[in-house]
Amino acid sequence: MASRVIPVEPFDLVVMGATGDLGRRKILPALFRRFCAGQMPAGARVIGAARREMSRAAFCDLVAEAVREFSPNQAGEPGMLEGFLGCVDYQAIDARGPDGWEALAAKLSPGRVRAFYFSVGPSLFGELARRIREFGLVSELTRIVVEKPFGHDLESARALNRTLAAQFDESEIYRIDHYLGKETVQNLMAVRFGNMLFEPLWNSQYVDHIQITVAESVGVGGRGEYYDRAGAMRDMVQNHLMQLLCLIAMEPPAKFEPDAVRDEKLKVIRALDVVPPYHIVRGQYAADPQLPEGPASYREEVGNPRSTTESYIALKAHISNWRWAGTPFYLRTGKRLVARSSVINVMFKDAPHSIFGADAGRHANVLSIRLQPNEGITLHVTIKEPGPGGMRLVDVPLDMSFAEALGPGGRDPADAYERLIMDVIRGNQTLFMRGDEVEEAWAWTDPIIAGWQSRGDVPKPYVIGSTGPNDADQLMKRDDRRWRGINP
Ligand code: BG6
Repeated sequence: MASRVIPVEPFDLVVMGATGDLGRRKILPALFRRFCAGQMPAGARVIGAARREMSRAAFCDLVAEAVREFSPNQAGEPGMLEGFLGCVDYQAIDARGPDGWEALAAKLSPGRVRAFYFSVGPSLFGELARRIREFGLVSELTRIVVEKPFGHDLESARALNRTLAAQFDESEIYRIDHYLGKETVQNLMAVRFGNMLFEPLWNSQYVDHIQITVAESVGVGGRGEYYDRAGAMRDMVQNHLMQLLCLIAMEPPAKFEPDAVRDEKLKVIRALDVVPPYHIVRGQYAADPQLPEGPASYREEVGNPRSTTESYIALKAHISNWRWAGTPFYLRTGKRLVARSSVINVMFKDAPHSIFGADAGRHANVLSIRLQPNEGITLHVTIKEPGPGGMRLVDVPLDMSFAEALGPGGRDPADAYERLIMDVIRGNQTLFMRGDEVEEAWAWTDPIIAGWQSRGDVPKPYVIGSTGPNDADQLMKRDDRRWRGINP
């Protein structure tokens, strides 16, 4: 089944900070892949803008290199790269001064969507927004795209929202959380609201608990400076895991439309209880003593021998509303774990009574939604073990791997950035965070972090390549539950 490509009108996309890491790794290759898919119409322009003086030819070289490195499969297709470079231009601008802005304005075409992607640190958001307005770059079809981290806490997030709101309407602001652009994350909504099967059971009467795991095998790499100030709570939980939690827990929106969906997500965040310290486990990766040549510890990697920043977090959250009262949500995420694996497990309750007797065994149903890798959905059901010898029950997976079920379209789903950038061009904000959502998420996160600071909390070490600190298992054990495995 080939994936359907919905054409868009020609647009101008200005990537501010295009020469930076995100631009090279994600944004430019994503645009290239949309070009290969036939979705970038003739005349569409991608204009790199950064402080560095650079000729168009030099920028094209940078784009070509980025595409070859981060999109090698498509880069080899004859003529594609040349075609894409034909859409590319560059303009040096000074975010803190007037240089380059008039020249940038001259490159933009009237009457078409113009999007400004702020692929820069948040300290520049205000300056950029002001200059875009001051130099008359704003048209009726203007959109700005901003990246996380959207603030460091509630106060800074509010300040950022105010700064952007001074120049742009909320309907023009696209706050990216790339998890919302992942294929399976959207499938979560399709499964919940496109089927009759699940929604009637989707509540505390039938669901025992829900596990959300986002495990990474990589360490913090070259982002140590940022990460050591952020930690897993700010880097992953406040945004990505929070968004997953919202989509799993929200009430059905009346329509798949931006405010309908975002209103429901907001209600979930508002209904989250304060998390007490004994429902949270923080961890930090330590070198494996068995592997003296193996990866360095977190502290070594970030170059801070006394760091108390967490690279792992597990917590138990409660949503106080009619649907979910009594059903805990266990969230965990960490770096340098045994595998890269993101999965949501909806753990149903046991059948109320077993007619087969205690010896037959009992297995509760589990719906596993695999975000990555091997995107797909598995429903675990109980059947009779084959063969004679009486009634013994076994758990079997009803497995739907998207790669197998959907052919090429499922095997190679569009990257989150491809989808989200095209949504910006189309003017669809459904998969972008609204300002109030981000603020509410910080309002929930802030007291947790403040508690660690006031108590001088030190994260528990866990060995690189493990499943995280033992305390995270204890968090479950105390409730007579256990984490499902982290399988790639
Ligand atoms: C980013 C975080 O937002 O998401 C990174 O800042 C993390 O620390 C990344 O590695 C994970 O994204 P993905 O798409 O690889 O799961």
